[in-house]
Amino acid sequence: MTKEAELTKEYLENILESMEGGILTIDKNRRITSFNHSAEEITGFKREEVLNKDCRSILKSDNCERACPLEEVMETGKPIFNYEIAITTKTGDKVPVNITTSPLRSSDNKIIGAVENFRDLTKHKGLWGKLREERNKAQQYLNIAGVIIVAINKEGIITLINKRGCDVLGYTEDELIGKDWYNLCVPQKYREERKRDFEDLMAGYYKNVEDYENTILTKSGKEPIIAWHNTLIRDDDGHIIGTLSSGADITKRKQTEEELIRSEKMSSLGQLAASVVHEVNNPLAGIMIYVKLFLKKFDSGTLQSEGTDEQLLKMQKELERTTRIIRNLLDFARQSEPTMAPVEINRAVEAALLLVGNQISLENINLDKKLNPELPLVLADFDKIQQVLINIMLNATQAMPDGGTLTIATYVAEGVQIGDETKNTVRIDIRDTGVGIPKENLGKLFTPFFTTKEKGKGVGLGLSVVHGIIEKHDGKIDVTSKPDEGTTFSIYLEVWDEKEAENTHRRR
Ligand SMILES: Nc1ncnc2c1ncn2[C@@H]1O[C@H](COP(=O)(O)OP(=O)(O)O)[C@@H](O)[C@H]1O
Ligand SMILES: [Mg+2]
Repeated sequence: MTKEAELTKEYLENILESMEGGILTIDKNRRITSFNHSAEEITGFKREEVLNKDCRSILKSDNCERACPLEEVMETGKPIFNYEIAITTKTGDKVPVNITTSPLRSSDNKIIGAVENFRDLTKHKGLWGKLREERNKAQQYLNIAGVIIVAINKEGIITLINKRGCDVLGYTEDELIGKDWYNLCVPQKYREERKRDFEDLMAGYYKNVEDYENTILTKSGKEPIIAWHNTLIRDDDGHIIGTLSSGADITKRKQTEEELIRSEKMSSLGQLAASVVHEVNNPLAGIMIYVKLFLKKFDSGTLQSEGTDEQLLKMQKELERTTRIIRNLLDFARQSEPTMAPVEINRAVEAALLLVGNQISLENINLDKKLNPELPLVLADFDKIQQVLINIMLNATQAMPDGGTLTIATYVAEGVQIGDETKNTVRIDIRDTGVGIPKENLGKLFTPFFTTKEKGKGVGLGLSVVHGIIEKHDGKIDVTSKPDEGTTFSIYLEVWDEKEAENTHRRR
């Protein structure tokens, strides 16, 4: 070999070595003439072991017996691209490979052998297997999850739902995938509104609402309440292409919460009833006396018109007052649907005072009302806020067994830190000059069943219900107290901003 030829050979061998696929060449007699490093790795044979050996004695494959591609290529002179066979390695394992076989020609274009270029498919097969495994695992996780997981694309079509989702909705996966979420799973009365909100969300018109609650519609027509956590799905360019949501069925929890609030309400009603009865009884007894007197005079024909009309008017006034008190008590006792609406806080304070007021005067307590007439509205459940105020006012009166002063004040409070947000709020202070709360109890006030009152006087649920209601309103409640001086409860509720409300109260 000339020096030049030797260099070329070395150069070619280097190339062969550096190639990622296995490369094997044979001569016309099917003797192996080259075998690169990758070929060693795939087959397990060393080059020294195979060089000059008949390829059939080394790399047996199913094809060796039937039509040998190497022979075919050498006969026809045409390459065979990308076929798959299993070759047997040195250790006897079968390895699937993808092979391209091409003829080798001499400089005068005669076929002198063939070259096989093969890739180990187990690496890829393994990858596919792994992917499949991962997908199954992910599916399993999705299905084990105790929450509903549902993905909806930009058009509102369900693209993924887990087993829990199917269970809650009462459909099979097949009945859900590819269907319109809004038409199938949203109660009719909310459908249009939520569809519109979703379209706005997809169009990027407003910020994603991460956590919210709403009702869904099941196959059997039930409407469970779901607490959702929502994530926007975006494509590589950042465009919104759908949502992925997890949701927990909180219907039961909601019911228990409502029941607790209701039973607490009953207990404060019990406390209010005594004073209300007292308040109503006195004027009624007075009116009774007048009525009897009138009847007597009427019978004996001595009823004079002079003074009578004045007395009748007085009676009418008293009757109106008692009716109002009773109506208020009944209103308060009534079970109301939770409804959020813009509320004038001063009106809620007056409504609470109308019921607690009797108790206050009975207990020798002065009422000091400082209501700011210029308060902005807050978004709230009127009945629930009334209940909060009554609970705190009743506690205050109970803290002043020997009388004192109850101050109710309302303020505008801007820039108040609630959670990790700064909000403009309306603040309601309820201050008493009562026994106060020892420091060690301050942290326990809002825990259920914490009470310092004797049996029958309190069960310790009032403030925990108060706390629950204020939390639901995304508000805040603070307490400051000094033993023997008194206690102040401050409630903060966010000011209702009509424009802002449009954005944050949109629901799916
Ligand atoms: N204004 C107050 N002054 C003194 N202590 C109070 C006041 N409000 C609440 N507390 C304390 O908090 C406890 C819990 O109140 P609450 O949850 O309403 O339950 P209850 O009134 O049934 O005891 C009361 O037992 C009392 O010790
Ligand atoms: Mg109480």
